[in-house]
Amino acid sequence: MRRIVLGDNAEVLPTLPERSVRLIYIDPPFNTGRAQKRTRMLVTASDGPGERGGFGGRRYDVEALESSSYRDAVEDFEAFLMPRIKSALRCLTDDGSLFVHLDYREVHYVKVALDRLLGRASFMNEIVWAYDYGGRPKNRWPAKHDSLLWYARDPDRYVFDYDAMDRIPYMAPGLVSKEKAERGKTPTDVWWHTIVPTNSREKTGYPTQKPLGVLERLIKVHTEPGDVVLDFFAGSGTTGEAAARHGRNFVLIDDNPDAVRIMSERLAPFGPELVGFPVIREADAQTALRAPAAAQTTLDLVRAGSRADVEPRASVRKTR
Ligand SMILES: C[S@@+](CC[C@H](N)C(=O)[O-])C[C@H]1O[C@@H](n2cnc3c(N)ncnc32)[C@H](O)[C@@H]1O
Repeated sequence: MRRIVLGDNAEVLPTLPERSVRLIYIDPPFNTGRAQKRTRMLVTASDGPGERGGFGGRRYDVEALESSSYRDAVEDFEAFLMPRIKSALRCLTDDGSLFVHLDYREVHYVKVALDRLLGRASFMNEIVWAYDYGGRPKNRWPAKHDSLLWYARDPDRYVFDYDAMDRIPYMAPGLVSKEKAERGKTPTDVWWHTIVPTNSREKTGYPTQKPLGVLERLIKVHTEPGDVVLDFFAGSGTTGEAAARHGRNFVLIDDNPDAVRIMSERLAPFGPELVGFPVIREADAQTALRAPAAAQTTLDLVRAGSRADVEPRASVRKTR
């Protein structure tokens, strides 16, 4: 099964087959947009003219509350993310693993929520992906890492192919034998890896694209060839490419038309099934990438199901 689906993951996940994926990797967006849009107001009965009218001709004053928007964002994020993770767990095999990729702002809140959902015993590792890129503030330690929380559905039975690990150079090769230095050592829970280099072939132009190297290491160690990997915040499709390169299958979900277009181009050599959107020819995709506004219009039509070559949205349900 190699599939790219356009749609809200909350709607698509319940349509996927039970216990069909060995690995779930997600890299959710922190700002869902809802937190930014939400303005909390205090509405009180007014003695004067009031800003807002109400029942029985009463008038009310409206005051914007001084609230901690950061805290609101975190609460909204959990409310957005956790039901989706819960829904996705239905698709995970009994020996499957879940990886949630987060940054320093949200990792602690999500760790506590995942411990509650899966049990502390299922927590296996916090992998720190360390990189070195971008500005360096002078008033605090520059934040240059993300965290990947690993939970095993069953902490006594999961896929961990030690021999499939890539090797990395010793920090002090002079302290080990020549053979050992040549072979390199296995990684720890701190992974040094560059971000996607600006001019690399890997770069798709999708703003939050993660490096293939990080996903390839995960997929090689935590799945076997032929397994299915699920990413329901798939973005540019890094998970799909890493999976397919190593003989694994993938289900990628994203509700952003730009994301599915980029994924369908990127993964075309692996022949994915496209669900909820049309096949976009390379030439059209090139034009669309140069003119995102026009592409948006086309995809709005796709969403409305008004083009003859559009697979109806109901087709998402075929996967049941
Ligand atoms: C941080 S990006 C993922 C980037 C990806 N790891 C990569 O390497 O390209 C998060 C993605 O989640 C998608 N997304 C956000 N809310 C969604 C939802 N409710 N359903 C499906 N996708 C969603 C966004 O469109 C975005 O592409």
